[in-house]
Amino acid sequence: VRIIVIGTGIVGGSFIKLLSLRTADLIRDFGIRPRLVAVADEYGAAINSQGLDQERLLATIKKKGSVCHDPKFGNPGLTGVEVIRENDAEVVVEATPTNVVNGEPGMSHIRTALTERKNVITSNKGPLALALPALLELAQYNGVHLRFSGTVGGGTPILDFAKRSLLGDQIISVQGILNGTTNYILTQMTDEGLPFDVALKEAQKAGFAEANPSMDIDGYDTAAKIVIIANWILKKRVTLKNVELRGIRNITLKEVKDAASKGKRLKLIASAEGGIQVAPKAIPIDHPLCVSGVLNAVTFTSKYAGEETIVGRGAGGMETASALLRDLLEIKNQLARINI
Ligand code: HSE
Repeated sequence: VRIIVIGTGIVGGSFIKLLSLRTADLIRDFGIRPRLVAVADEYGAAINSQGLDQERLLATIKKKGSVCHDPKFGNPGLTGVEVIRENDAEVVVEATPTNVVNGEPGMSHIRTALTERKNVITSNKGPLALALPALLELAQYNGVHLRFSGTVGGGTPILDFAKRSLLGDQIISVQGILNGTTNYILTQMTDEGLPFDVALKEAQKAGFAEANPSMDIDGYDTAAKIVIIANWILKKRVTLKNVELRGIRNITLKEVKDAASKGKRLKLIASAEGGIQVAPKAIPIDHPLCVSGVLNAVTFTSKYAGEETIVGRGAGGMETASALLRDLLEIKNQLARINI
């Protein structure tokens, strides 16, 4: 499978690393030999139709700050859109940072790839939160796949669980903690008495906060994820502007302690049940959603099976990279079925 990777930050870099770590078992267990034909970042690209060496890419990023500085394969100044248009590949992995204002640069990367009939795997929530219904239509029109299991829950298969495992049921509502950074901040405030700003800095240092932390603490990241769930799982045609949104920026230590004294924990909760909302709520400590640290938890309420909660680490480079790889294997299976 020929792959183009756009974005070499925490997620894109981890994906390249994961491919390198799993080369042998991907060939042995899945019959798949991923070939990175182009990798682009904000400064340019490295291109080799025979396949770029993953270790060499990672070393170039570490030493020189961009893959475009590779002396043999580097192309400084080349944009992601040009790279997608000008190189043959079956799959584009789009892992640039989330932007919920206009979705760029991810929006152009995804649109270009789908229009060029390339399958897309993305961890970028911005374009999906703003235009998921239109992007799914564009993929369908061009006969290719758009997959995004890493956008919700990091490596935890929240979307896949609801889409596949609950196929025989009807999901009525969804409620959950969808952002690791805010859960970490609220947990540190409750358990350690840390002030908001100190807890936020710790989350940034650990690498799971967004490049722009307002995305986490003002609830946009959570809102983007519940929009993706609402479209993909509940079949609602909604975007970010349909979400009633309140983040945790103004939460004080006193509010956190008051909730704790009543046997509850403050959590940033997203819910889709009729309307779509994101707001801080006090959750009883014995409720399955009451998970701490960077964990995410989502409760699906189905007509016949009732409430089911899935819990897991909702952020992190290698965790999200494992979701990208899951999507790659899924697309490979779909392509194999078509080719039979
Ligand atoms: N900033 C996000 C979080 C990363 O903290 O959950 C994963 O989407």
